[in-house]
Amino acid sequence: MMRLAGKTAMITGAARGIGQAFAERYVAEGARVVIADIDFARAQQTAAQIGEGCFAVEMNVTDPASIDAGFAAAIDAVGHIDILINNAAIFTAAPIVEITTDDFDRCFDINVKGTLFTLQAAAKHMIARGQGGKIINMASQAGRRGEALVAVYCATKAAIISLTQSAGLDLIKHGINVNAISPGVVDGEHWDGVDAFFAKYENKSPGQKKAEVGAAVPFGRMGTAEDLTGMAVFLASDDATYVVAQTYNVDGGQWMS
Ligand SMILES: NC(=O)c1ccc[n+]([C@@H]2O[C@H](COP(=O)([O-])OP(=O)(O)OC[C@H]3O[C@@H](n4cnc5c(N)ncnc54)[C@H](O)[C@@H]3O)[C@@H](O)[C@H]2O)c1
Repeated sequence: MMRLAGKTAMITGAARGIGQAFAERYVAEGARVVIADIDFARAQQTAAQIGEGCFAVEMNVTDPASIDAGFAAAIDAVGHIDILINNAAIFTAAPIVEITTDDFDRCFDINVKGTLFTLQAAAKHMIARGQGGKIINMASQAGRRGEALVAVYCATKAAIISLTQSAGLDLIKHGINVNAISPGVVDGEHWDGVDAFFAKYENKSPGQKKAEVGAAVPFGRMGTAEDLTGMAVFLASDDATYVVAQTYNVDGGQWMS
């Protein structure tokens, strides 16, 4: 049975990585999906690869005008939006004494402001349609506790958990469920970047940090993007209609809460 038959979804940052896996799975479950990414060329390539039912729009989540244009293009393509996944984000790391205001602003702009104002645009659209909706934010185990070298990214993901709670409580009266997924360590291009930060700050050889974190996961390996898709389908489905303002750990046993 296709669990998202007839639904439409927008997924930010889905040109690659976890968002791409969500787009592939949603299309396989019968949804029509709009990939909204700042990297439009790659978004188009990914949408073409996924095939029928998948579309690409250019969207920079830090820019309200670009969010509006992205929603307008998405609505042109698929008619309306039932489901939003706020997935676009960047990672950054530095010891406390080396954090720059530029890096702080960029990370909070994309990860927190981007999530809030894309969520707001989706909420306005869903409220106007009057048929509810599902909004899924991407948190992280990084938002569950601090990390010595990852203060800014961890703080952005803690903010996502908090925004999910507030938005979840405010929007449920409109039949809009807001929940979040908290992954642990997920293999892919994103983690290649994370590995490079740790190679720099902890004097590790390339790939060493990645091997160490994978070995430390209770499940026994790093996650894959596909490990997260089941939760993303559940939270977007009618089965999750009574689930409000929650953040679910999908991390192989890394964090318990
Ligand atoms: N990979 C992990 O280990 C991991 C762990 C926990 C949480 N997460 C979270 O999961 C989500 C996806 O992670 P990923 O590993 O697939 O990341 P990724 O870096 O592979 O992909 C991020 C995507 O976001 C896009 N993007 C960046 N800035 C944007 C902007 N301003 N506007 C629109 N799009 C923009 C990029 O072009 C890219 O396609 C993120 O929210 C991330 O924080 C990832």
